[in-house]
Amino acid sequence: MTSLHEVKAAKELIQSRIDQTPTVGLILGSGLGVLAEEITNAIKIPYRDIPGFPQSTVAGHAGQLVIGRLNGVAVVAMQGRFHYYEGYTMQQVTFPIRVMKELGVQKLIVTNAAGGVNETFSPGDLMIITDHINNMGVNPLIGPNDDHFGVRFQDLSSAYNKEMIQVAKEVAEHQQLNIQTGVYVANTGPVYETPAEVKMLRICGGDAVGMSTVPEVIVANHAGMNVLGISCISNMAAGILDQPLNHEEVIETTEKVKQQFLSFVKGIVTKI
Ligand code: 6GU
Repeated sequence: MTSLHEVKAAKELIQSRIDQTPTVGLILGSGLGVLAEEITNAIKIPYRDIPGFPQSTVAGHAGQLVIGRLNGVAVVAMQGRFHYYEGYTMQQVTFPIRVMKELGVQKLIVTNAAGGVNETFSPGDLMIITDHINNMGVNPLIGPNDDHFGVRFQDLSSAYNKEMIQVAKEVAEHQQLNIQTGVYVANTGPVYETPAEVKMLRICGGDAVGMSTVPEVIVANHAGMNVLGISCISNMAAGILDQPLNHEEVIETTEKVKQQFLSFVKGIVTKI
């Protein structure tokens, strides 16, 4: 179980290196870490310097906090996140969310690269997450509940904040971005789904599938934060196109939509 003591130790290290309070948190998914380069007056803190932080191991993830201003807004960005499939516990995966909350973050923007399950989607599409399906078989809130962090039985009726979704839609329209909306399904990975599993997810109401996000979103809700989720559809999930899936394709597609993604998130931070 994550202890308040550990969270405070991490917070103190971070606060000792920064001189402003971030109000918006960003989690940058696979291939989307470039957004951190847009942060001005950036202070970078490698995860290895922060007590309680694990280190990320996946290619395409840098493994540092970047704190500064994005379009004038004080932000803290995770350039690289922790995945359950790397072998971290759910407490480790979500530890940074607890730290962000303690730092003063009220609003969280979570991003990821995901496979398209909805057959009307195309690689390169951006999708505003309207809801999720936790298909990981675990939950980060299992274990004793610390009432300082949140309630025992967390409501997830509006896990993705409706006002933030509205703002994101308006920004997309203003930028003439053809945005998708939909339900994100989280699997543990590290395997991609079989065609049969993808079909099942579609029947169950899923639009995109990935290996992250849901643990962080659950904990952010538990911490009382407002959450916005954005998926970059990096490839179609298995069985839709007649081709195998690989991580290189994920990185290539995110590289292609980088500019759109950057302007979209920058547009959103000033309006939430
Ligand atoms: Cl197709 N599945 C999962 N689980 N994660 C992904 C993906 C697919 N494409 C990118 N990330």
